[in-house]
Amino acid sequence: MPCALYYPMREFIVVGHKAVTDGQFSLNDLPGSAGRMDIMCRCINSALFLSHDLRRDVVVYLVLLGEPQPPKIVKFIGQDVRYLNPDERSSGSLIKKALELTARARWRESTSGVWVRQGDLEGLLSELNSSAAKGDDNRLYYLREDGTDIRDVIKEEMPQPSTFILGDHVGMTPDEEQKIMDAGARTLNVGPVSLHADHCIIVVNNELDRNNERKGCD
Ligand SMILES: C[S@@+](CC[C@H](N)C(=O)[O-])C[C@H]1O[C@@H](n2cnc3c(N)ncnc32)[C@H](O)[C@@H]1O
Repeated sequence: MPCALYYPMREFIVVGHKAVTDGQFSLNDLPGSAGRMDIMCRCINSALFLSHDLRRDVVVYLVLLGEPQPPKIVKFIGQDVRYLNPDERSSGSLIKKALELTARARWRESTSGVWVRQGDLEGLLSELNSSAAKGDDNRLYYLREDGTDIRDVIKEEMPQPSTFILGDHVGMTPDEEQKIMDAGARTLNVGPVSLHADHCIIVVNNELDRNNERKGCD
């Protein structure tokens, strides 16, 4: 008999320090003139894709800090997203369409399940914390190489709705780290070596999948 599985919501926040903030970039040059947008695209894929399906319980926020109109946030909602294929050009093209919209302080949907707004990491964290205060028991985790082992934290605290925050190729600035910790995040590591952000997301998804299965089978 199959286990009764409970899938709490998962959110990932990735900060792209150089990722451009208008839709003028070329899909042929995601790593170069688009400011390492390739990292953002791979994070979308790692967060959302299963084999022949999408993770409907995942939301991804890309905090984009590159020129010319920083800061902006692009949000992918797994439950609603359409027209997304598992290659970098596909996610790049949806990000580009989102950045072609005029971003305002409130979310605007560009294509199904993809939203954009003006805003920075601090504002996003306070938005997530205020929805947690309204009753969603969301927890913030900052992925850092010297954090607590995710396997220990999973045993104590998960599953429940959780938000995982990651840096890009340059990591996180001290000021950003301060804001993350002030927002109440706990640090987590996913293993003993430093990985690419998109690979960390795959590990987190896998650890949570395995934990869900264990809990469902208890
Ligand atoms: C390529 S790494 C950043 C490396 C960057 N040179 C630095 O020193 O921060 C990208 C992000 O992945 C996450 N990360 C990488 N390895 C990790 C690990 N073993 N445990 C937890 N997070 C990790 C961190 O959030 C990091 O900011």
